[in-house]
Amino acid sequence: MSEEKFESLSKTQSGSLGEPHTLKASPDFIANRSVAEDVYARSTRDRLGFWEERASELHWFKKWDGVLDWNPPWVRWFEGGQLNAAYNCLDRHLDGDRRTKPAVIFEGENGGSRTLTYEELYAEVCKGANLLKSLGVTKGDRVTIFMPMIVETVVCMLACARIGAVHCVVFGGFSAGALRERIADVQAKLVITTDDGQRRGKIIKMKGIVEEALRVGCDCVEKVVVVERRQSEQGGTGSGLQGKELAKREPQAADPRFVFYHDALRDMPVDCPAEVMDAEDMLFVLYTSGTTGKPKGVVHTTGGYMTGVAATHRYVFDLKEDDIYWCTADVGWITGHSYIVYGPLANGATVVLYEGAPDYPDKDRYWQIIDKHKVTIFYTAPTAIRSFMKWGLSYLEKHDLSSLRVLASVGEPINPEVWKWYYKYVGGERCPVCDTWWQTETGMIMLSPLAGLSEMKPGSCSSPFPGVKVNVLNRAGEVAEWGHNGYLTVPEPWPAMMRTIYGDDNRYVKSYWSHWPGIYFSGDAARRDQDGFFWIIGRVDDVINVSGHRISAMEVESALLEHPIVAEAACVGKTHEVKGQALVVFVTLRDKDAPKDEVIAELRQFLAGRIGAFARPEEIYLTNDLPKTRSGKIIRRLLKDIAEGRALGDTTTMEGSQVLKELYKG
Ligand code: WT7
Repeated sequence: MSEEKFESLSKTQSGSLGEPHTLKASPDFIANRSVAEDVYARSTRDRLGFWEERASELHWFKKWDGVLDWNPPWVRWFEGGQLNAAYNCLDRHLDGDRRTKPAVIFEGENGGSRTLTYEELYAEVCKGANLLKSLGVTKGDRVTIFMPMIVETVVCMLACARIGAVHCVVFGGFSAGALRERIADVQAKLVITTDDGQRRGKIIKMKGIVEEALRVGCDCVEKVVVVERRQSEQGGTGSGLQGKELAKREPQAADPRFVFYHDALRDMPVDCPAEVMDAEDMLFVLYTSGTTGKPKGVVHTTGGYMTGVAATHRYVFDLKEDDIYWCTADVGWITGHSYIVYGPLANGATVVLYEGAPDYPDKDRYWQIIDKHKVTIFYTAPTAIRSFMKWGLSYLEKHDLSSLRVLASVGEPINPEVWKWYYKYVGGERCPVCDTWWQTETGMIMLSPLAGLSEMKPGSCSSPFPGVKVNVLNRAGEVAEWGHNGYLTVPEPWPAMMRTIYGDDNRYVKSYWSHWPGIYFSGDAARRDQDGFFWIIGRVDDVINVSGHRISAMEVESALLEHPIVAEAACVGKTHEVKGQALVVFVTLRDKDAPKDEVIAELRQFLAGRIGAFARPEEIYLTNDLPKTRSGKIIRRLLKDIAEGRALGDTTTMEGSQVLKELYKG
């Protein structure tokens, strides 16, 4: 039996099919488009040849012997080939004009910016790589990166790649407990963090969280590198902290494992050869939520991943040499890995990196940044766009957005009306909107229009990327008829696909490959319309997508069960106007007489501490019992109905159907 179960879907379509008509890019955009007209035909004629061509656009120390070795679900792309991801993002751009081209434009939350050219980024990465080496990190070692959105985060990822160490970035919003679990799972030798981070003007003590995480069960960690954020803001000029600032610095003697980054970097040479990596050597591990309480360490390797992210980044966004590209995701998630770091830098693009929140100091911050840096390609999430809609047009109207050329969206379904608002008010009806569907596991964009080439429908992620196949299947594994809901699957291997779950091959097979052997199951439901356009419905497993963050219902439930007052817990998702989905939690207490308001406040706080602030539930219901099947399984479907305020669904299989009438809601 497969571990990742899924709900059955109704046979027929639910809801509307969306817009029947398609939209084209403007004639002007089409006339200047870089992507060749015949790219779909080319990739269909010879799928592997298409990917070989894309791989050839990277720099290889040694060419591959074979393109694809497919032994489902085990895959090897570009076997025998040798390359280095950091070399592809840096060294190969140093020969021509890109040497002095901005690679990263950092925008701090307080408004300071710092630009690094490719040459400067190269030097920083080499020094960082030498620092890692001096601390004993070698090829294959795992390095956990727990940092906010600053230049050094990108530098440290690339420094790891340069020496063949495997980076494991943990999103900076996670709690100490969640961080600890992820450090221990990969057995990280080194952790890189900052003294603090800033979000909406508030200082977050990152180093304190790391210290708490390391208190138990992380004996694997030999050193902790601490980047001081104020030094980063000053461009890490090497002048170091002075007088008063130095006095304020916390003593590191408390734990001799701690090393200050900028101090240590000063003595590092710039020269650091890039390690020769095999195509299938691990590049990074990134955790995501599955249906059990334990997060999955998704493994990505080097050759196929780099091929996939570079090609998709160039084709989907119609990338040009002078584009200023801004993706608002956090580097702690896959979007940051693939479309802030590896894809854009492999393509020699200029990337904007913004440290903070969209509404700080005011709700026009994104538009101000677009105006200030003349951003041409803007990639964000539907949850952000829904907030902008709510905040109103006056914030947009204050700024000149005419530099924008291409808009894109990722993370959750984008409602047609949100798509249209984005197209009309942000893009001024000149910019194609690319709704990109993909996952941590797929590594690269799988479904999306190609800007200027594909037609678009508001709310649809259009069609598979060239060289990618995607099918909607019914439960029997047949391709579903158009208009019918089904399971979103990938029948053929693609270069950037995950290779396994770190340390757990069995779970990899069970989670993704056991529903229909040899076919990858995404966990999403979707349908295809009569024009072949794909419409994503959402997750069909117990994964909840809150503002584009994947949260496992079980992870929330097992965290709650750790609280002494909790007897039973169930977590479901509920539709939310801005977040897409929000968490709703049902809890039965050991002490039925506990003061309800206090308990609810306490549990909200507890979850924030256990997982992270983004896992604070929207609503907590206290109840005397939970609806269960005769075999004792909690019936989430009914809880979902309550959370959504719908009439209760079928209760015939339920024990004690009275229980739901006595809910206490907080
Ligand atoms: C899940 C993957 C891919 C980077 C960000 C999230 C949902 C993602 C879309 C989209 C509808 C989407 C799916 C998917 N999702 N993009 N364009 N339309 N749904 O990565 O954390 O691995 O989450 O996000 O449900 O399975 P992730």
